[in-house]
Amino acid sequence: MKHPFDSIYSNDERHLDAIADESRDVLVLNTGFDPAGKSAPHPPRQLQLTAASTRLIAKCSRILRTGGWMFVYGTPEELPFWALQLSADASSPLTTGRMVFKYWIALDIEDASANKTLKPSHLGVLMFFKESGDKKNPATPHLNIDAARSPHAYCAACGKTVKDWGGKKHLMNPHGAALSDVWRDLPRRVIRDNLIPEDVIQRLALLTDATRENCLHIIQSGRGIEVTSAGNPAILKHSTPTVAASTDASSPATLELDHIHDGDCVSFLNRVKELHPRGTFDLAFADPPYNLEKKYSAHDDAMADAHYIEWCNSWLAAMADNLKPGGSLLVLNLPKWCLHHVAFLSKRLEFRHWIVWDALSDPRGKIMPAHYGLLWFTKPGAKPVCNYSPMGNRSRKDFVQPPDAPKYCLRASCIKNRKQLSNDEKVELTDVWWDVHRIRHKRDRDAHPCQLPEKLMARIIKLTTRPGDVVFDPFGGAGTTAIAAAKLGRKFVVTEIDSRYAKITREKLEAMKQHADMFGEFVVPRKSIERKRRDVTKRQIESYLQELAAKLKRVPTEDDVTSERPEMLREIDLLYPNRGAAFKRAKIGLAS
Ligand SMILES: C[S@@+](CC[C@H](N)C(=O)[O-])C[C@H]1O[C@@H](n2cnc3c(N)ncnc32)[C@H](O)[C@@H]1O
Repeated sequence: MKHPFDSIYSNDERHLDAIADESRDVLVLNTGFDPAGKSAPHPPRQLQLTAASTRLIAKCSRILRTGGWMFVYGTPEELPFWALQLSADASSPLTTGRMVFKYWIALDIEDASANKTLKPSHLGVLMFFKESGDKKNPATPHLNIDAARSPHAYCAACGKTVKDWGGKKHLMNPHGAALSDVWRDLPRRVIRDNLIPEDVIQRLALLTDATRENCLHIIQSGRGIEVTSAGNPAILKHSTPTVAASTDASSPATLELDHIHDGDCVSFLNRVKELHPRGTFDLAFADPPYNLEKKYSAHDDAMADAHYIEWCNSWLAAMADNLKPGGSLLVLNLPKWCLHHVAFLSKRLEFRHWIVWDALSDPRGKIMPAHYGLLWFTKPGAKPVCNYSPMGNRSRKDFVQPPDAPKYCLRASCIKNRKQLSNDEKVELTDVWWDVHRIRHKRDRDAHPCQLPEKLMARIIKLTTRPGDVVFDPFGGAGTTAIAAAKLGRKFVVTEIDSRYAKITREKLEAMKQHADMFGEFVVPRKSIERKRRDVTKRQIESYLQELAAKLKRVPTEDDVTSERPEMLREIDLLYPNRGAAFKRAKIGLAS
């Protein structure tokens, strides 16, 4: 495979300085990570970019054209520091535009066969876009998405698509699957150096129409990151941010276990710390609001970025404070926020993994956003629990089991059939999890906007705790953590600020106690949620728009719909936030 870009080492400063301002469309930067040390857990430590790396970033921002792309390749532990420096570089006098974080591409590429515990297989590529400095004249990002489509994959057992499209099958593009921000189709390999693999660079070139003339591949000479000091809990305590609690804390006189506590999590955690200064939780897991302007009744989900990060730091610090030595802290969030969480937490705790939850989402945006970061940190002072036994070892029933091979789909009927036929190939569990779907059917969810699947919580709890251990969740929602913990024989402590969600959880727990099945296993009976049936569904609207697009050979306009079926516009207004959201679904009709 021929390398599409010229390569240059970062310490060749004369060469770099000679490159004209804004003269390259695409830059690919290799960070100088240590391939041997990248999977070892490190003690809490303060990391920062070296002075040479900071200079290099300023130079890259200078030579990249406005509207151009910059890719940065490295390890999940170190890339966040590159990302934060790139974002901060907006104020550099050398740059005309502003570097904007767009995606964290998770590469699932490392060979994961010979490891004792959870093996890192994930390396990252940051994707930054150079936005114009002139707000009135924004740059338009270009990506050649069609060149980078891959054929749809079909299940080796049932022959249906590996991805279960559920009720969204009409959004499947006949030319192949849209590229997502988790790349799992590349061959695995043993990573021995810190150079971006050729097949990855080829795909980046396809995606950006890169040529030898308009691109540059820069290799960081030496290490890109340095440790400035060891993490010091005594000092760090003073840096615990004090963000005012949004409601009064529940202030229990004793800590009640197996309990849903109403109120603000930070106030609650501060009180727990007073009651049990040596640490209480074996696992603290958080699935916070993602600041996506969702309509929570007791939480503002549209904070300014800096305020959101400060708020997150307040509960992250309090969770870390209340962990037992050896305890695990896991936090689920969008990659954009995970960057900040890694930088904040690695001073206090040991970084273990940036687990990628490939949540199999629907096509939206240029690159399909499927990647949720699940960060795993542990508290020093005792050996952390990691209940995974690799395929070659004798498997323990109470451990997390190796997942089914990715060549199979996740449909329940297919799983059942293939287990009966012993068509049941397994692969090693790594830090890329693709085998857990988000909840796909309304019948499986409660009245909560972002409920997690129980299978995800069960895996996290099983992996990081033992029976009888205490699991904490500050953002209880509809109670997924509490239910999974109770089923697995762990104690739970949950806070939830919205009393309606706390009530849903209590009712489910109560119902569960009364419905232990004949083997003593808990089951939660589902109350079917009453939903108003509509005359026209979203699927019918989108199929209609796609057929119209195929007939007209272009995306239809509102006038086209008004003259054909005016009632559809009324339905669109009722079901979509705006008309554009429905009309953009029509494009698939042009692909067939
Ligand atoms: C993303 S949802 C969690 C969903 C949950 N994992 C589930 O599976 O149902 C976040 C939850 O945090 C709650 N919340 C927001 N701010 C809070 C706070 N300060 N303290 C406690 N709960 C809070 C919201 O009401 C919401 O239910």
